[in-house]
Amino acid sequence: MRVFVAGGTGVVGQRLIPMLTAVGHQVTATTRSAAKTATLRALGADPVVVDGLDRAAVIAAVTAARPEVIVHQMTGLAGGSDLKHFDRTFAVTNQLRTQGTDHLLEAAQRAGTRRFVAQSFTGWPNQPVGGPVKTEDDPLDPHPVASMTESLGAIHHLERAVPAGVHEGLVLRYGILYGPDTSAELIEAARKRQLPIVGGGTGVWSFTHVTDAASAAAAAVAGGPPGLYNAVDDEPAAVAEWLPYLASCLGARPPWRVPAWAGRLLAGDSVVQMMTRSRGSSNAKARRELDWTLAYPSWRQGFATGLGLPARRGNGAAKAARAVRA
Ligand SMILES: NC(=O)c1ccc[n+]([C@@H]2O[C@H](COP(=O)([O-])OP(=O)(O)OC[C@H]3O[C@@H](n4cnc5c(N)ncnc54)[C@H](OP(=O)(O)O)[C@@H]3O)[C@@H](O)[C@H]2O)c1
Repeated sequence: MRVFVAGGTGVVGQRLIPMLTAVGHQVTATTRSAAKTATLRALGADPVVVDGLDRAAVIAAVTAARPEVIVHQMTGLAGGSDLKHFDRTFAVTNQLRTQGTDHLLEAAQRAGTRRFVAQSFTGWPNQPVGGPVKTEDDPLDPHPVASMTESLGAIHHLERAVPAGVHEGLVLRYGILYGPDTSAELIEAARKRQLPIVGGGTGVWSFTHVTDAASAAAAAVAGGPPGLYNAVDDEPAAVAEWLPYLASCLGARPPWRVPAWAGRLLAGDSVVQMMTRSRGSSNAKARRELDWTLAYPSWRQGFATGLGLPARRGNGAAKAARAVRA
C-alpha cells in the first residue's frame, strides 16, 4: 500500500517507517526541514517537506502521494515541559491535533484515502472517578483542571474528528512514552531526585514503550476496525509504585515525598492531578482488535532493559533486569 506518514522524523515516525517498508508498503513521510530529508530517505521513505499547519501544502503533498493510508504522528513538544503551564507547553501539539488533523482529513477526502491512523493520549484525560483503570467506553474528564482545558479539548477534537472524517479512522491513545530518545527528561528528573511523589502517589499511569507505539501504528495500518484504542502496556500503575522502581533502575536514591499542597506550589495543579487522581487505561481492546504484540508488556521490564541507557556504575538496571527475569 501507499502510506503517508505525517511526522516521519519523530520518535515514533522514525521507528514506524522501517516497520512499514519491511512488509512492502511504499512510504511517503513528512518533515518541515529540508535537512532531515536524508534521514527519511535512509529509513526507506520518500520525503516531502511540509508544515502540517499549512492547509494548502498538506493537501498538495497528500494528493500528490495518493495514499491508501495516512498516519498522523505530528506533535510539537520539543520546547520543553513546563507542566505548571500545561496548555502553553502543549500549544503546538494542540494545534497539530486540531488544525493539523483537520487539514490531513480534508486532504484524505480529496485523495480518496481509505484509512487514517492518528496519535492521541490516555491517562490524565480519563475522568478521575471510580476504578483505577478505564476503557475506551469510559468518558473523558468533563471537569479538567483549568491549566489542562485546551489540551483536553484538542484530544476531544481529534478523537471525534478522525472516526467521523474518513471511512476507516483509528485513534491510538498512547500512554506516557518512554524508551531510547524519548524519556530524557523523566530519567534526568528521577535520577536527580527532582521528581517527588506528590500526595500519596495514588495517580495511576499507563506507559507505552516507543517501540510498541510504533508497532501499534503499524498494526493499525494493517487492520482493525475504526475507533479508539488505548495503545498502552498491560500494567497501569500508581506513581508510588512505578517511580521508586524507575529510580532504582537508574541507580538513584528513592524519590522524595511531598504533600499535595507543596506539589501544587512547586509544579501546579496539573502535576498534582496526574500524581494523585489520574486513572490508567486498559489495552484489552487494542490487544483483541489489532494484531498487536508488545515488546514491552510492562514498564517493569521496559525500565530495566528498554531505556537505551549506557551501562554505568551504580545503574540498577542490570539488577532490575535480573529481578524481572526471575
Ligand atoms: N504520549 C507521550 O507521552 C508523548 C507523545 C508525543 C511526544 N512525546 C515525547 O515528547 C518528546 C518531544 O516530542 P516532539 O513531539 O517534540 O518530537 P518528536 O516525536 O521527535 O517529533 C514530532 C514529529 O512531528 C513533526 N512536527 C512537529 N511540528 C510539525 C508541524 N508544524 N508540521 C509538520 N510536522 C510537525 C516533527 O517533524 P519535523 O520536526 O521534522 O518537521 C516530527 O516528525 C519526545 O521525547 C516524545 O517521546 C511523548
